Amino acid sequence: MPPIIEISGLSKTYKTGFSALKNINLTIDKGEIFALLGPNGAGKTTLISIICGIVTKSTGTVMVDGQDIGPGYRKTRQMIGLVPQELHLPIFEKVGDSVSFTRHLFGLPRNDAHIEKVLKQLSLWDKKEAKILTLSGGMKRRVLIAKALAHEPRVLFLDEPSAGVDVELRKDMWNVVRDLREAGVTIILTTHYIEEAEEMADRVGVISKGEIILVEDKKVLMEKMGQKQLNIILEKPLEALPQKLGALGFALNEGGSQLSYKYDSKREKLDVAKLLAGVARAKISYSDISTQQSSLEDIFLGLVKQ
Ligand SMILES: Nc1ncnc2c1ncn2[C@@H]1O[C@H](COP(=O)(O)OP(=O)(O)OP(=O)(O)O)[C@@H](O)[C@H]1O
Ligand SMILES: [Mg+2]
Repeated sequence: MPPIIEISGLSKTYKTGFSALKNINLTIDKGEIFALLGPNGAGKTTLISIICGIVTKSTGTVMVDGQDIGPGYRKTRQMIGLVPQELHLPIFEKVGDSVSFTRHLFGLPRNDAHIEKVLKQLSLWDKKEAKILTLSGGMKRRVLIAKALAHEPRVLFLDEPSAGVDVELRKDMWNVVRDLREAGVTIILTTHYIEEAEEMADRVGVISKGEIILVEDKKVLMEKMGQKQLNIILEKPLEALPQKLGALGFALNEGGSQLSYKYDSKREKLDVAKLLAGVARAKISYSDISTQQSSLEDIFLGLVKQ
């Protein structure tokens, strides 16, 4: 897939002197769902805001579909839909008018059929005539999404779309995202919810303190996640790993107090009986058994701590 967004050597220092982004290099492929994970203050919103032309960069280049966001701003901005993190809405406007007006801002002709489709997709059709003021928080977020989709963007940014959103809206939202992906729209979302990235994303990027510290195919990350370990705590420490247990796939920890067996829970079903029979045959007695799993969360936290 050719890239739709190419970021190279991007940095941002705010007027306060704070360096929010440091030498970011990142390529987003056409049609993918990319999840950007990172703790509060990592620079996610800053990065998105620069690509959308809301915040000016300090150094580096950003290309959207081959156009530089500097000189090509009008063209690049039109390709992008942004669902911002903050709820900023014209509260006295009606839902339908407000969403329709967004098309106008991008110089596009009125298209009632498209607006109807978007409003229906987001379960807002029956609120078309309601003033935004009268909507609940979750409905307002739906309006923000509808507004971001009004001008049929080719790239959609969702900045913390699940913050303060109930299960129902989250489901609706992910259905919309899947439909958009089917239609060839590229989606970039930021989130604190690792399960969300797991469920939705094709690739995952982790940002911490203004630096991208990992970009990985989700499947590869899931394989890492699939790693599990069976631990057998021994009554008496062993000096060395008996050869027969080594042949079964066991390892002995430092100090000899624990046998462990690593397995891939996605490919292999753990045959505890067979493993324990092996331990019994070696005449080793144990006091406890446990399993542990490395999750995407563990990987993420480990990375961010470093
Ligand atoms: N206008 C500004 N002036 C000065 N510093 C800013 C400005 N906007 C953001 N920052 C700082 O830049 C850093 C990154 O902020 P940003 O909003 O990009 O983080 P984030 O990853 O989106 O965080 P969150 O998960 O909380 O939304 C923070 O330390 C923030 O205080
Ligand atoms: Mg943010």
